[in-house]
Amino acid sequence: MDLKNYIASIPGFPKEGIIFRDVTPILQNADVMRSVIDAFDAFVKEQNADFILAPEARGFLFGTTVAMECGIGFAPVRKPGKLPRKSISETYQLEYGTDELCIHADAIQPGQKVVVIDDLLATGGTVEAIIKLVHKMGGEVVGCAFVIELDDLNGKERFGDIPVCSLTHFAGE
Ligand code: PRP
Ligand code: MG
Repeated sequence: MDLKNYIASIPGFPKEGIIFRDVTPILQNADVMRSVIDAFDAFVKEQNADFILAPEARGFLFGTTVAMECGIGFAPVRKPGKLPRKSISETYQLEYGTDELCIHADAIQPGQKVVVIDDLLATGGTVEAIIKLVHKMGGEVVGCAFVIELDDLNGKERFGDIPVCSLTHFAGE
């Protein structure tokens, strides 16, 4: 089974020059979704992680299921104004301007070993901000896992020596 057959590529969405890589066909096929979750599950166990974080929105599609499979906890990382309880935040750079990610202050405990899961690694800015949030809380990111990595953008260089698991690769659009 080639996972690429279950990733739809949409040129020009959401804007000219971008090819959108859509993972929703994976979710439409239970066997394909099972193989993705199994691969993430194996990585999380290899890293000896005891907690999963994932950013809204597409990270949630995989993160909660992997946490359940591994028998460990999960917490959502969200854009500002969405979390109802005491939160901490981290600002990060976009191509134009900045954005911010937030996590509940009690989401992870000092010393916890976290794997971050998302659908796509592009510039790495999203996950780099999550790594900083985890450090602020006294935890450790022991791995990052993605369905898709855009190789030409070199996003994983921002993660230092944290192991990265990418299930498929595209050049860089
Ligand atoms: C996309 C994608 C990753 C992020 C990758 O999310 O789902 O989370 O961009 O980009 P980066 O590596 O350059 O940070 P997006 O912000 O479009 O939001 P969504 O998941 O809510 O659709
Ligand atoms: Mg996203």
